[in-house]
Amino acid sequence: MKLTKFSILAAISLAITKCGAVNVTISDDTSNGIKIDPALVSFSIELDRWPDWVGSLGRPNKYTQTVLKNVQDRTGFPSAFRVGGNSEDNAVYDPRFQYVNATFPPKTDIKPWPEASNISIGRDFYRLSGNLLAGTEFTWGVNLKYRNVTIAVEEAKAIMATFKTLHHVSLSMIEIGNEPDFYYTSAQAYADDWLEMANAVSEAVHLVKGKKPTLQGAAFAGTSITMRNLLSTGYATNGSGELLSTLSQHRYQGSFCQGSGGLIADLMNKNHIRGNLSNYKPDIVATNNAGLTYVMGETNSYACHGAPGLSNTAGAAIWGVDYVLQAAKINMTRCYFHNGIGYKYNFFQPIAGVGDDGVNKSSVPHIMPLYHVLLIVGEAIGNSGKSTLQELSIDETNVSGYGIYEHGKLERIVLINSNLYLNTDSQRPVVTVSLQNLPTKARIQAKRFTTPSADATHGLTWGGQSFETSSGLPSGRVVTETVSASNITISASEVILLSIH
Ligand SMILES: *[C@@H]1O[C@H](CO)[C@@H](O)[C@H](O)[C@H]1NC(C)=O
Ligand SMILES: *[C@@H]1O[C@H](CO)[C@@H](O)[C@H](O)[C@H]1NC(C)=O
Ligand SMILES: *[C@@H]1O[C@H](CO)[C@@H](O)[C@H](O)[C@H]1NC(C)=O
Ligand SMILES: *[C@@H]1O[C@H](CO)[C@@H](O)[C@H](O)[C@H]1NC(C)=O
Ligand SMILES: *[C@@H]1O[C@H](CO)[C@@H](O)[C@H](O)[C@H]1NC(C)=O
Ligand SMILES: *[C@@H]1O[C@H](CO)[C@@H](O)[C@H](O)[C@H]1NC(C)=O
Ligand SMILES: *[C@@H]1O[C@H](CO)[C@@H](O)[C@H](O)[C@H]1NC(C)=O
Ligand SMILES: *[C@@H]1O[C@H](CO)[C@@H](O)[C@H](O)[C@H]1NC(C)=O
Ligand SMILES: *[C@@H]1O[C@H](CO)[C@@H](O)[C@H](O)[C@H]1NC(C)=O
Ligand SMILES: *[C@@H]1O[C@H](CO)[C@@H](O)[C@H](O)[C@H]1NC(C)=O
Repeated sequence: MKLTKFSILAAISLAITKCGAVNVTISDDTSNGIKIDPALVSFSIELDRWPDWVGSLGRPNKYTQTVLKNVQDRTGFPSAFRVGGNSEDNAVYDPRFQYVNATFPPKTDIKPWPEASNISIGRDFYRLSGNLLAGTEFTWGVNLKYRNVTIAVEEAKAIMATFKTLHHVSLSMIEIGNEPDFYYTSAQAYADDWLEMANAVSEAVHLVKGKKPTLQGAAFAGTSITMRNLLSTGYATNGSGELLSTLSQHRYQGSFCQGSGGLIADLMNKNHIRGNLSNYKPDIVATNNAGLTYVMGETNSYACHGAPGLSNTAGAAIWGVDYVLQAAKINMTRCYFHNGIGYKYNFFQPIAGVGDDGVNKSSVPHIMPLYHVLLIVGEAIGNSGKSTLQELSIDETNVSGYGIYEHGKLERIVLINSNLYLNTDSQRPVVTVSLQNLPTKARIQAKRFTTPSADATHGLTWGGQSFETSSGLPSGRVVTETVSASNITISASEVILLSIH
């Protein structure tokens, strides 16, 4: 038959309307799953406004504690915290102050809440770590950029002395320098200075190989110095380089640094997510081959604190779910999402007076859409501490899926429909997924992440519950559905979590 342009189009549309279900075959082979860290979705906090996140001595930030507890209830573990960022490299320890004294540059349209340009870390600053949930693991950043050993050593001493007295939280790692590839042009120059600094720090605070705290290295902003370049300098085997347990890179999928945002459809796009992450594969392999853990030490949607109307939308949460699971698949052990006061890509705003777009005021602390990534992915990982992950092969532009296994058995499936549905669209497309090869007697319970639209900033629910409450506790009952393996419907811009019994 000779196909005309018209008949091809007709044939395609027939295929979509007639046998619309997307078949997804569940592999029997569970041997090549990747182990998932319960703290896969973790926090990177810009250091300058740390007290706003955690409160003061004896007066912890209750809202922060509540929304973190919601996450711990799902994974059995508290999220991990890295405190650092740009302000890590502008800070000095100064015990004349109690908490902090900082100088901030003027606000701009791009950064209504700029990072401090000069920070004095006071005597009780690090102690506020104890205001987070019991069991929280910390990575604290110290200053490399000033290239002053005294400054780095004083910070490290204060951190170590503080954590010796805090018994319910722990110091997991020390990171010396944030995005040093901005101020070193070669791997060798960085490695030489870093080693000099790390040698002094480790000697002053008596770090011991194989014991916590270990060191987290690199923290590079880009890929101009690769992990392969870095490791080839002898960085991880020379002197205190042996104290490294982890190498970190930073990645934002886009940038708001010039003030131009992006399209939600481009952010959520399945190929873009894979394209943005797969570049790191050789670095991850090189890091693992050196016996080290690889993490995305700072990440989020758009650099320079997020783009309004993009980073603070439901679409960003849908992006986040696919992004972290894809990262886990390629053995990025953790993704530390960067958060600061007033940033547009935050999980939540921990204090009153800060709006979602960084400008408009809100009278209460509140979650932002991205918070749901902690809940959804936390629940998907579960609390066994033994989950493994496999991506499901789905031949559909806008549908991604992952299987989560425990003890070699499929327990849960995450399905993501990243097709764009905007508030102004009249029709909301639905995709039907048919799971092939499940045990015939399998019972499937579903929990839905519903969004009014991908551009919505409020009105999101997870399993029927809203977390957009003034206490941070969910409102409403948990709603689950019993679904049939052959007919799982997911609306455009929606995520579903299936539990297989
Ligand atoms: C999905 O699989 C079923 C049988 O398992 C088959 O009848 C159907 O044609 C398949 N659909 C597509 C779109 O491949
Ligand atoms: C604290 O920082 C402010 C700038 O934000 C500065 O004016 C002030 O002098 C500092 N305080 C002290 C005691 O250094
Ligand atoms: C940074 O702040 C401290 C104390 O607040 C002050 O002594 C110092 O001069 C400031 N440094 C710069 C470079 O502004
Ligand atoms: C390093 O920092 C210390 C403490 O702030 C200061 O006293 C010293 O002058 C600095 N050294 C250099 C070379 O700048
Ligand atoms: C080890 O590091 C020091 C700097 O601390 C450097 O001078 C030396 O060349 C390094 N040695 C090797 C074998 O990389
Ligand atoms: C990364 O994602 C952005 C959009 O979010 C896209 O423009 C860019 O092409 C992606 N990069 C790759 C290498 O896929
Ligand atoms: C993933 O990274 C860990 C170190 O964090 C390593 O032990 C493990 O072998 C890596 N897994 C794969 C499949 O490379
Ligand atoms: C912020 O306030 C301005 C002016 O009231 C309004 O036009 C804009 O829509 C608000 N933005 C958000 C995200 O609420
Ligand atoms: C995938 O989503 C994009 C917009 O996000 C849409 O333009 C496209 O038609 C969708 N593709 C399919 C096959 O549904
Ligand atoms: C598939 O599920 C949807 C809603 O979940 C329902 O409306 C529809 O009737 C079901 N279709 C079949 C063929 O069972």
